[in-house]
Amino acid sequence: MSHEVIEKNIGLMAVLVLLVISIGGLVEIVPLFFLKSTTEPVEGLKPYSALQLEGRDIYIREGCYLCHSQMIRPLRAETERYGHYSVAGEFVYDHPFQWGSKRTGPDLARVGGRYSDEWHRVHLNNPRDVVPESNMPAFPWLNEHSIDASLTPRKLRAMRSLGVPYSDADIAAASAAVAGKTEMDALVAYLQNLGTALS
Ligand code: HEC
Repeated sequence: MSHEVIEKNIGLMAVLVLLVISIGGLVEIVPLFFLKSTTEPVEGLKPYSALQLEGRDIYIREGCYLCHSQMIRPLRAETERYGHYSVAGEFVYDHPFQWGSKRTGPDLARVGGRYSDEWHRVHLNNPRDVVPESNMPAFPWLNEHSIDASLTPRKLRAMRSLGVPYSDADIAAASAAVAGKTEMDALVAYLQNLGTALS
């Protein structure tokens, strides 16, 4: 019996198992590359401004994604707490996306506009000043470091090579847009933009 042959030959079985899993995976994954809804930005989605893009880099550098997701699932408990569930078209300009997988703190996908800029500054400087029971770490050094404006145009250009529609004018204006700004300014600008294209 052929089944017996397979069961007694671990090498053959491994190859066949891999084959079955690959076909299953391809059937699920390949159509996503051709679906418009996964590659088209939602209406009103704008590429990050130069300052927001710098803020996003700080979000990544500081490891905010280790405690915060940016992905609201389509479940009632989530949408009542955070707002409209996340859709693929909101993330087309995110390279790489910051969905995360760990929620030590709340999801941040729609935190934009929920608090004032000042609240974020105080909170990031020392979370306990506004949320006494918070166990989020403080990031006071963000106030002390300014953005290196000489790198910003290169960051926009790198994003453009990945398909983000920055114009030559955007790139030319990028250094001036972040000159003199602190890392705190940039991170707050980034946070205030999160999830605002869809609400
Ligand atoms: C060790 C885990 C941890 C890390 C790292 C962390 N946070 Fe938090 N964060 C929390 C927790 C817990 C809360 C909830 C308590 C509070 O509001 O301080 C929170 C709350 C927040 C809130 C308020 C969200 C809301 O809806 O009320 C924002 C905004 C935020 N964090 C941003 C950041 C940013 C930006 C970074 C990176 C610079 C960061 N966090 C890093 C754990 C973390």
